[in-house]
Amino acid sequence: MQGVGTGAGAVGILATTEEAQAQANVSAMGPAAVPITLTVNGKPMKLSVEPRETLLDTLRGKLDHTGAKRVCDRGTCGACTMIVDNKVQYGCTILAIDAQGKKIETIESLTANGKVHPIVPAFVNHDAQQCGYCTPGFVMASKGFLDKNPNPTYDQVKEGLGGNLCRCGTYVGIRKAVLEAAQALRSGKSVKGANNA
Ligand code: FES
Ligand code: FES
Repeated sequence: MQGVGTGAGAVGILATTEEAQAQANVSAMGPAAVPITLTVNGKPMKLSVEPRETLLDTLRGKLDHTGAKRVCDRGTCGACTMIVDNKVQYGCTILAIDAQGKKIETIESLTANGKVHPIVPAFVNHDAQQCGYCTPGFVMASKGFLDKNPNPTYDQVKEGLGGNLCRCGTYVGIRKAVLEAAQALRSGKSVKGANNA
């Protein structure tokens, strides 16, 4: 018993020493706001955030990028989907301070500078939204999916968008929209708007 107690004590001291060393190597941030720079849709933006703030809340509350929606706020619904360093991500699961130095793409980028990404009119053509809360997340998940899968099948689209939920049940329209946008991107032709189709 004595031996066991000594061993456990030694492990405890070791862990404490390692923790102390780790803490000594990490500079503390917060809880007050700290200055950061985020690169959003190609533009560097300077601001201050509390280290606990998510990228989603920062974009919506401080940078006037309100396209991404805050629904579950716990990484389960996909309404806050954006693309960070070419990866589809939930903005509510990333801290803003951790997004420094990364390329952040939001839904606002899909209609910037007079150019409209084909996924936008394709969603309209296929009635791929009802209440619209999930829609920005689905649009960004679709964009990220198409960046990596230019010629998908219906089933691949279904699987590729599996991280997003729609309570209104617009799944079929969304999948068809992705297929239409994929075809437009491959052919270089634009997707005609719903009213012009
Ligand atoms: S709000 Fe981020 S996943 Fe639901
Ligand atoms: S359109 Fe209502 S949640 Fe998807």
